[in-house]
Amino acid sequence: MTDQSLLTHPVPDASASSQPPAGRPKKVFVKTYGCQMNVYDSDRMTDALARDGYVPTDTAEDADLVLLNTCHIREKAAEKVYSALGRLRELKKKKGAEGREMMIGVAGCVAQAEGDEILRRAPAVDLVIGPQTYHRLPDALRRVRGGERVLETDYAIEDKFEHLPAPDKARTLARGVTAFLTVQEGCDKFCTFCVVPYTRGSEVSRPLAQVVAEAEKLAAAGVRELTLLGQNVNAWHGEGEGGQTLRLGDLLHRLAEIPGLARLRYTTSHPRDMDDSLIAAHATLPALMPYLHLPVQSGSDRILKAMNRRHTASDYIALITRIRAARPDLALSGDFIVGFPGETDQDFEETLEVVKAVGYAQAFSFKYSTRPGTPGAELKDQVSEAVKAERLERLQALLLSQQQAFNQACIGRDIDLLLEKPGRMPGQLIGRSPWLQSVNVDAKGVEIGDIIRVRITAAGPNSLFADVVD
Ligand code: 5AD
Ligand code: SF4
Repeated sequence: MTDQSLLTHPVPDASASSQPPAGRPKKVFVKTYGCQMNVYDSDRMTDALARDGYVPTDTAEDADLVLLNTCHIREKAAEKVYSALGRLRELKKKKGAEGREMMIGVAGCVAQAEGDEILRRAPAVDLVIGPQTYHRLPDALRRVRGGERVLETDYAIEDKFEHLPAPDKARTLARGVTAFLTVQEGCDKFCTFCVVPYTRGSEVSRPLAQVVAEAEKLAAAGVRELTLLGQNVNAWHGEGEGGQTLRLGDLLHRLAEIPGLARLRYTTSHPRDMDDSLIAAHATLPALMPYLHLPVQSGSDRILKAMNRRHTASDYIALITRIRAARPDLALSGDFIVGFPGETDQDFEETLEVVKAVGYAQAFSFKYSTRPGTPGAELKDQVSEAVKAERLERLQALLLSQQQAFNQACIGRDIDLLLEKPGRMPGQLIGRSPWLQSVNVDAKGVEIGDIIRVRITAAGPNSLFADVVD
């Protein structure tokens, strides 16, 4: 069902209790936890609220509405939300005593997974809204003003993206020359450790025309680099003008034609969905940056099977070899979990072997965290915290040394740098390399958004330094 009231500018509710004093705009503070998809969603919610007269602010203290956009991927991430809610309750009380109202909303994956529990555990929360219903946010807020505590966690039948406003030019510019664009949401892979299929639902791809229209809008606002997002982005599929099935490689080709868009990226991918057309795009599409985040999670076939990854370690290495043949300067990034139930020392050694065989430019590694409702939570042979900690330390030391080696190997190379923001010193700018490294450069007569040729001169732990090449 389509609720037409969401498509129009709502009339401000004069009887609302949570209104700022006359003459001051309503302010929203959105705190984002977790992945880039949440960053994208927070921006879309901010855009939707702008139609309701809300302007963004950087502090909860200053806000009439605080929205926590939450992450449920690991236990720690979810717990952070409850401690933040504890602090917000105090702030709400203090403001209430001063006659200032503050609404508190919880969005994101914790909202989806634990909506009822949040309302029970956190009485200060006015609104819980899941990722599939963000287009209903303005309406939900009206219900809160009417005195309700709102829980909106159904999977909406309507397409939220059709109802969420496309990024606005001024706000896009303020967000910078790089942008995210969610093209796919949800996951059907059901890795046994992962909550995503339960919190974000099954795989849905946004239609080609919708994605292209949004990308064109972003490019027209000055965006030079676009990162396509999806929990399993390379499962994206669409329909071409002639009715043919399109895959992510085709979408990237289509987006590369948009004037102004110089760089394309995508994240996160599953090895099983790296199809030939996507691999070929890495060879044929100069705009597609030579950087790929391709999680393997473990290097042990036994553990990969228990994780339901549906590939072996050697499948993964063979795939990397094919992608590197298509794009020899490709930098790889990955995700790893240590201490999945049943993981032995031998299994863990096999993970280290895969890391050594691949050579990562960057990587993310985590201790396995039991997620209620996932098959992994039912497994008996849980690994102790001490063993997980010890394995994580060894893995991270290896990954860090690979990252440093990758950065060092860049010294002396000439690269294209997309200028993103001013640096700390006058005349200094910070840009991104094709491999997603942050690079500092002194440059005159250039602007944010320009792509300039530079030579890498030095590498620090987190960023590189470069000189302009004439
Ligand atoms: N425990 C630890 N790490 C997890 N991830 C997903 N679920 C869990 C979990 N239960 C990691 C995976 C995934 C990344 C986004 O988070 O490595 O790729
Ligand atoms: Fe989770 Fe990614 Fe596996 Fe999907 S493919 S279940 S999002 S880890």
